[in-house]
Amino acid sequence: MVVSPSPGARKASTVAVFVLAVTALFVYVGEVVTHVSGGVVAQAPVEGVSAEAGEAVYFGKGKCSTCHSIGDRGSAIRGPNHGVSAQFDTPMGLRAEERARERSQATGRPFTATEYLVESIVDPGAYVVSGYKNEMPLVYRPPIALKPDEVRAVILFLQSLGGEVSSEAIKLPETILRAADESRAAPWAPYLKGDPQAGAALFFDEESKAGCARCHTVNGRGRDVGPELSTVAGTRTPQFIVESILQPSAVIASGFEPYLVETRDGRYRTGVLKARNDRGLTLKTERGELLIIPAADIREVAPQETSIMPGSFADDLSLTQFHDVLAFLLTLTGEDKEAAAGKGAANGKAQASSAGGGHAR
Ligand code: HEC
Ligand code: HEC
Repeated sequence: MVVSPSPGARKASTVAVFVLAVTALFVYVGEVVTHVSGGVVAQAPVEGVSAEAGEAVYFGKGKCSTCHSIGDRGSAIRGPNHGVSAQFDTPMGLRAEERARERSQATGRPFTATEYLVESIVDPGAYVVSGYKNEMPLVYRPPIALKPDEVRAVILFLQSLGGEVSSEAIKLPETILRAADESRAAPWAPYLKGDPQAGAALFFDEESKAGCARCHTVNGRGRDVGPELSTVAGTRTPQFIVESILQPSAVIASGFEPYLVETRDGRYRTGVLKARNDRGLTLKTERGELLIIPAADIREVAPQETSIMPGSFADDLSLTQFHDVLAFLLTLTGEDKEAAAGKGAANGKAQASSAGGGHAR
């Protein structure tokens, strides 16, 4: 089967050089975010190490609730629900016991429920929950940068969801203990400072070289071909954001996987797969149209490795334009919204409710 021609088919070397030029400016990532957003470290410290303090971390600084819900509290779906839901019949504290059994079988050494919880934060990729991707960030590194006591508190909170609450059981490895000092001690290089306002203009102007809003929503403006970006800098490092813009196919966000469909009349359609069942499937095209293709018309369906997001921004944007757009994205930490929405999971809600398409400009 022929893969549809895409802008990703350009010289990898141009992209590599551009990525280098850009990332060299980010030797010390955390400092940049703190600088630009002025927020991350300035938040009120959590008082004490308790499950209550952990709950505050979960819905606040830890940004856990931008990807996780607890039962029907929140609607974020990027990570597993930490309560009881259609998919999980045990809450996280109890579920950790089952996972611990799986982990000791896989590794051949004993695991307690708390050790599983610690591991899921220290090294999220060690065990990837089935049906999900290895895309949980290291929350003890920038931009989230939880301190050891905040990590302890959030683990107490997870234990309290149906498990045994025990602070003695929590043994944090050196990686976490050292992370805070490393972030403080790391040297940082000067970077090209973009203009966030110019960046916003490029982002929202659909006729500009960037035109990101053709596919992304920020604070209610734009379309929903790709993920909503209103809080992207709250959970992602500048490096991750830089790479997602310049090499979109390197990591494809869950729920936005590209597919190629060949129909019986010999036509090829590409888009983000939105739904699929016995009756057929629904694709969201790069132009934001919803295509409903009945099963009877489908000859073949193939997942693609090239993102629907164009891979050509390294060529199409000047260095200044790129940094302007980046500077705008780095302001999107979601902190103002968190304060307004309290315990909301704004991110997931917007994604779920935007599935119907048909956005105003
Ligand atoms: C950007 C999204 C994102 C953020 C932010 C995030 N997670 Fe996750 N998390 C995931 C994904 C995706 C998975 C499933 C893949 C995996 O197992 O690594 C996951 C898995 C987990 C699991 C294992 C769940 C299970 O069923 O075994 C725990 C526990 C967890 N996260 C805790 C947290 C906590 C605590 C925070 C906040 C300090 C947090 N996560 C922040 C995306 C996120
Ligand atoms: C034609 C549609 C389209 C355009 C135009 C587009 N994107 Fe995307 N973008 C997507 C899709 C689809 C994804 C999800 C798949 C992936 O990760 O590649 C995505 C992913 C992203 C991500 C990763 C988000 C995450 O949470 O993992 C970022 C950041 C991003 N885009 C920024 C931009 C910026 C900045 C622009 C403008 C310069 C832009 N995009 C233009 C479709 C688009």
